[in-house]
Amino acid sequence: MIRFSTMTTKLITVFGSTGNQGGSVVRAILGHPELSKTWKIRGITRNPKKPDAQAMIAQGVEMVQADLNSRESIFEAIKGSNAVFGVTNYWEKGTLEHEVMQGKNLADASKQAGIEHLIWSSLPYVSKITDGKLPNLHHFDSKAMVEQYITSLSLPASFVLPAYFMSNIPSSIRPSGSHYSLSWLFRPTTQIPMLDVPTDFGKFVASCLAKPSETLGKHTLAASGWFTPLDVCRAVENCTGSKCEYHEVPIEDYQGSKELFDNLMMIREYEYYGPGAQDGVKKSHELVNGIGGWEGFGTFERFLKEIGI
Ligand SMILES: NC(=O)c1ccc[n+]([C@@H]2O[C@H](COP(=O)([O-])OP(=O)(O)OC[C@H]3O[C@@H](n4cnc5c(N)ncnc54)[C@H](OP(=O)(O)O)[C@@H]3O)[C@@H](O)[C@H]2O)c1
Repeated sequence: MIRFSTMTTKLITVFGSTGNQGGSVVRAILGHPELSKTWKIRGITRNPKKPDAQAMIAQGVEMVQADLNSRESIFEAIKGSNAVFGVTNYWEKGTLEHEVMQGKNLADASKQAGIEHLIWSSLPYVSKITDGKLPNLHHFDSKAMVEQYITSLSLPASFVLPAYFMSNIPSSIRPSGSHYSLSWLFRPTTQIPMLDVPTDFGKFVASCLAKPSETLGKHTLAASGWFTPLDVCRAVENCTGSKCEYHEVPIEDYQGSKELFDNLMMIREYEYYGPGAQDGVKKSHELVNGIGGWEGFGTFERFLKEIGI
């Protein structure tokens, strides 16, 4: 495990601490033998009275109220922090413009507050990577636009890109008689970078905190591992003892939204992250393993057991 030379206490402010990604960041820092001593945590919520915020306080996290829609409230909340973790929830409004506005508020406030290290939950710039072939993946493009804005401000920043959440998948696994079936637009052997968010996401962010020299200005690809649809079926079989059959849905039969279609196509044809995905995930694992101090990465089987399929 890496040895930390100084033990001066620093402060990180974590947005989304009552949610998936931010909650995972808090747990990864608190659960690390050395980072938990080096870093104090301030969590942000719009409502410090809510149970999730109170649970954070019970773990020793200082909870402060702020709203990403207000640059001034962000500035007041992050003042005095060395580092900030930023995440936005696209789905609250569901528009690219709104998410970009929130991200820019965070960037401007971080610049104003002289933040030494901003860690932004980003995603690939899909419309650019695909030369306009997938133009509807707004919740990816919006985060990449914020990343570009952060870079244009010359803010010292690391970009952590969460993989496809494992929690997206159980709703597609359906009981079918005494068996299970999984139907997707992917080929049976499509490699999907998947993330067990609560267990693993925070390890990547905390590793950026521990080794900024390796992550500043770069992409850290936060994936627990690569899993194919056949791997997912095998995990279901191991957990339930029942057979799980995979059905590849023909592209022409797809009936969902354009945004979801482009999301699935980004996975099917571009390995989700685009060029360099396999190597990028490998390097990010090396980063986390080099820091040490956490258990290994989650598997889909472990995820299924935890949610109790
Ligand atoms: N599903 C996937 O496969 C996938 C993959 C990569 C990225 N993503 C991205 O993940 C993001 C969602 O992250 P998540 O799952 O961690 O979200 P989440 O669990 O729904 O939590 C959202 C968090 O954001 C905070 N928040 C929301 N609006 C806020 C505001 N106006 N001001 C301050 N805080 C605010 C909430 O805090 P309070 O409610 O306490 O204020 C909460 O802590 C989305 O943007 C999505 O695009 C998803």
